[in-house]
Amino acid sequence: MNVIELIKSDHRKVESLFSEMEKAKDSEEMQILFDQIYTELTLHAKVEELTLYPSMRNYDETHDMVEEAEEEHIEARELLEEIKSMSPSDPEFKAKIEELREAVQHHVEEEESEILPSVSDSMDEQEMKELAKEFQEAKSKLEKEISAAS
Ligand SMILES: [Fe+2]
Ligand SMILES: [Fe+2]
Repeated sequence: MNVIELIKSDHRKVESLFSEMEKAKDSEEMQILFDQIYTELTLHAKVEELTLYPSMRNYDETHDMVEEAEEEHIEARELLEEIKSMSPSDPEFKAKIEELREAVQHHVEEEESEILPSVSDSMDEQEMKELAKEFQEAKSKLEKEISAAS
């Protein structure tokens, strides 16, 4: 997979977790799904910040988009932490999940319509391969760190 496909495949994975959450039958299932959403989003955002964003910051066309995207990652992290401290049986839990889902959806749409098309516009084949490699390596390194810590 090239780097654009890698990133989009992460996005689709998180979207499907959010739709499963809508169908969740009980608090236990909601907790399991939230833990997965938490891990997937944290990992994905961190890897983008380590690989995709620094490289796209160098181009005038995408510099400001990257700044905005980083702000949105911060907002998503705040929501994730807020929800993490809640119990799925809390009456506010579902509303907070919906707020997170909408924020993530907006961010993903911008990333896919603005930042990702600029990747193929500004990089040659070799640079894109290099970025895909960095993305996958950073992701597996962080995955190992997360599973070692838990
Ligand atoms: Fe992002
Ligand atoms: Fe993303």
